[in-house]
Amino acid sequence: MAVTSNIVILTGAGISAESGVNTFRDRNGIWSRVRLEDVATPEAFAAHPGRVQKFYNQRRAQLPSVKPNPAHHALVRLEQSHAGSVTIVTQNVDDLHERAGSQNIIHMHGELNRSLCAACGASAPHRGDLSIDSECASCGAIGRLRPDIVWFGEMPYQMDRIYDLLRDCDLFLSVGTSGNVYPAAQFVQEADRHGAHTVEINLEPSLGVSDFAEARHGKAGTLLPTFVDEVLSGQYRF
Ligand code: APR
Repeated sequence: MAVTSNIVILTGAGISAESGVNTFRDRNGIWSRVRLEDVATPEAFAAHPGRVQKFYNQRRAQLPSVKPNPAHHALVRLEQSHAGSVTIVTQNVDDLHERAGSQNIIHMHGELNRSLCAACGASAPHRGDLSIDSECASCGAIGRLRPDIVWFGEMPYQMDRIYDLLRDCDLFLSVGTSGNVYPAAQFVQEADRHGAHTVEINLEPSLGVSDFAEARHGKAGTLLPTFVDEVLSGQYRF
């Protein structure tokens, strides 16, 4: 392993599951109770803005009651102690990586704690509920604020930067994601093509498990701290 090796970690809902945040596609996941077409598309917001705001208001309101778990903390240790770069690319819209103490985070699907103005494009920190009457602090438009969440049919954030990181990484680690949603599901192939070692840590084999060089299946809160220990001790070679 090069001392200055670069590590990219893709995280999904499974890394926050042990904190009490719902995943999407497990048996009791969010998409088993709510149709994503009703709340997670621009068309749903245009047709029923109040319903969409309520769905995200409920999820935002849950954040103060959940805490980072050992998997989030393990990634903080990795970032603080690894000699090369460590970047978290998360599909999660919660703030648990930040609250654990990670610094280098890309929220490719947006963040619950930010609003986006459909009139002027301003993205701003936002706490509390959003409503169909909320006013944009930048342009003053009323009723145009939406959660700053990347919905189905929209382009995830920072894709150029993410692909640069994937092309330049030595280890690509995927944690807690089912591999159902693109483009994140194909990051493993991009990293592999450019020579990275690839590892999946997930409760069960993801859809893309065969694309990974190695897979460890079980709870992220147990497996990830062990994996990070192996990397930091030099015991794990990649
Ligand atoms: N540890 C590790 N993995 C877990 C754990 C756990 N404790 N609990 C659940 N998992 C796994 C599940 O087995 C599943 O494979 O996490 C995965 C979560 O998958 P999804 O619910 O599909 O979540 P994710 O992959 O993040 O979804 C991607 O889909 O709806 C959109 O925008 C939303 O960002 C989300 C995207």
